[in-house]
Amino acid sequence: MNLSDSTYSETLAKKSAGEVVLEIRDLHKSFGEKHVLQGFDLKLHRGENVVVLGKSGSGKSVLIKCVVGLLNPDKGYINVLGQDVSTLSQIDLDRMRVKIGFLFQNSALYDSMTVHENLEFPMRRHWVHLTPEETLKIVEDALTSVGLLNAMNMMPSELSGGMRKRVGLARTLIMRPEIVLYDEPTTGLDSITGSEISQLMLDLQEKYKTSSVIISHDMHVAKITSNRVVILLDGINYAEGTFDELRNSADPKVKQFFQTMI
Ligand SMILES: Nc1ncnc2c1ncn2[C@@H]1O[C@H](COP(=O)(O)OP(=O)(O)OP(=O)(O)O)[C@@H](O)[C@H]1O
Ligand SMILES: [Mg+2]
Repeated sequence: MNLSDSTYSETLAKKSAGEVVLEIRDLHKSFGEKHVLQGFDLKLHRGENVVVLGKSGSGKSVLIKCVVGLLNPDKGYINVLGQDVSTLSQIDLDRMRVKIGFLFQNSALYDSMTVHENLEFPMRRHWVHLTPEETLKIVEDALTSVGLLNAMNMMPSELSGGMRKRVGLARTLIMRPEIVLYDEPTTGLDSITGSEISQLMLDLQEKYKTSSVIISHDMHVAKITSNRVVILLDGINYAEGTFDELRNSADPKVKQFFQTMI
């Protein structure tokens, strides 16, 4: 899929008019002498998919962990849905996390539960007022939207890698998050399945009107799913633009980045 001019102009329109749902400013995080993030900035607008591309070990997972409060940054500002994360109490942090969906690299399904039970689990915790019939309807809708209604009673061990990702996606989206953070959504999948998952992410962005940060080192994911790409290099947001803009960049570091990543 090529990013058409209309997609780009739509993105620009969103950027100028759209609300910022996630803002990261001057983020620093070191482990001892290892300076992983050294002044990283990012803005995510409502409805937008931003792909953060970076090599292995560049700090992508550290970045996501800082956003959801699993790691404390050394310095910097993170605002999620209008709230400064550093000022939140534990209760408010938990409330904020419900509005953020997180798709783990390994899909993190519970192996002892069926697909149905895996999807029901987050709802039982957060939506105690639902009747069993209402819960079943939501589970069925979520599985239908990832094309896996027939897998409802299967165990995770019976699923292929691609199916696990789809179930993981359904479980993430079932809570209707406003923001979705994807950590390497296609790692471990063959390229055709990876492209299908990428296409599905795009469909779900449209259907659920989510805003997403997609962390990846997979160029195909970036090409298919991004409205905008940010290159994480040397601890900062080294370059930003559409996938095609960056791929055609004259900047020697960006050129080298693309040559070594493809
Ligand atoms: N808790 C930690 N303690 C010490 N060092 C850490 C910790 N977490 C991450 N690091 C270091 O920070 C650097 C960035 O790690 P990170 O996991 O963010 O990389 P990544 O970009 O997600 O890589 P990959 O693509 O392989 O998942 C690595 O050098 C890693 O060893
Ligand atoms: Mg990682």
